[in-house]
Amino acid sequence: MVVSVREVMKKALIIYYSQSGQLFDIVASITQPLETEFELVFEEIKPKEPFPFPWTGTSFYQVFPESVQEVKCELEPLRFDPEENFDLIILAYQVWYLSPSIPFSSFLQTDEAMRVIRNKPVITIIGCRNMWIMSQERIKKRIITMGGRLIGNIVIIDRHQNLVSVVTIMHWMIKGERQGRGLYKKLFPRAGVSQKDIRESAKFGEIILQACKKNKLEDLQDILLEKGAIHIKPVLLSIEKRGYMMFRIWSEFILKKGEYGDPARERRLKYFKYYLFTVIYLLSPIGSVIFYLIHKLNHGHTRKRIDYYSHNKLK
Ligand SMILES: Cc1cc2nc3c(=O)[nH]c(=O)nc-3n(C[C@H](O)[C@H](O)[C@H](O)COP(=O)(O)O)c2cc1C
Repeated sequence: MVVSVREVMKKALIIYYSQSGQLFDIVASITQPLETEFELVFEEIKPKEPFPFPWTGTSFYQVFPESVQEVKCELEPLRFDPEENFDLIILAYQVWYLSPSIPFSSFLQTDEAMRVIRNKPVITIIGCRNMWIMSQERIKKRIITMGGRLIGNIVIIDRHQNLVSVVTIMHWMIKGERQGRGLYKKLFPRAGVSQKDIRESAKFGEIILQACKKNKLEDLQDILLEKGAIHIKPVLLSIEKRGYMMFRIWSEFILKKGEYGDPARERRLKYFKYYLFTVIYLLSPIGSVIFYLIHKLNHGHTRKRIDYYSHNKLK
């Protein structure tokens, strides 16, 4: 009997959304080694009304309340067949305001997502600046609620110092320039995840491939961690946790005035923008020193927290 290669090949569904192409490059690098064993089906999430890129000063803040509260946007019809028996689901997303981006959280709220994820091994890939932990807690919850088995998480971040990457990401997102010009170019590095990190992330694909071949998916996260799939800085974790608490309050406060795009909420969005810049540039440097000292004194507790957020179980 002749068995065609196609018949024995496993199938992986890769769902992603990317504005600048950065997340797509990460996904392409990580999944490339899987090609020998898997037929890869890529599905790009497309909002019916695209979010602007580059953003304007206003649109960038306009998405804040909906990102944090995971309010859905309408999506173009998905092309994959949710009844198809995929062997692996890879979900790639970026973080907006410490939350899953609106297109991605909208996808996770579709019936198709529920059908395709149920009973399936799922791997998440995050490409963001450096704050993703609170977002991933919510993604863990959604995947588990849908009956999926989260077996791996890989996070590729911008490794520059926190305040430097705030400047460069804003410049990139609003001007559309990753590198900048003139004096800015002399002072600041290229925005986003480095090309080297994107290239080298292929090693994680190799690890996933080996785990699938040996059918040893339970240990996958630990092997990924050994190879550097996640770096958590305790100080950033503490800032993020407090920031997220405040974001929930602010987003509710703004949503009370109106839905996405409603001019009635402009004033509150402006207040939020001032708040955000004050926190980032004034309070977070002071907070960083305090958190650093707390973590030094409370080493055991910090280690436990990092271990928890590096794995895929939900508290
Ligand atoms: C509105 C907005 C908010 C963002 N907030 C965060 C954030 O809270 N944490 C973070 O690490 N990155 C944040 N980023 C960066 C994104 O996660 C991502 O790295 C960047 O948008 C590039 O992704 P792309 O592949 O869609 O172009 C934000 C980006 C945007 C546009």
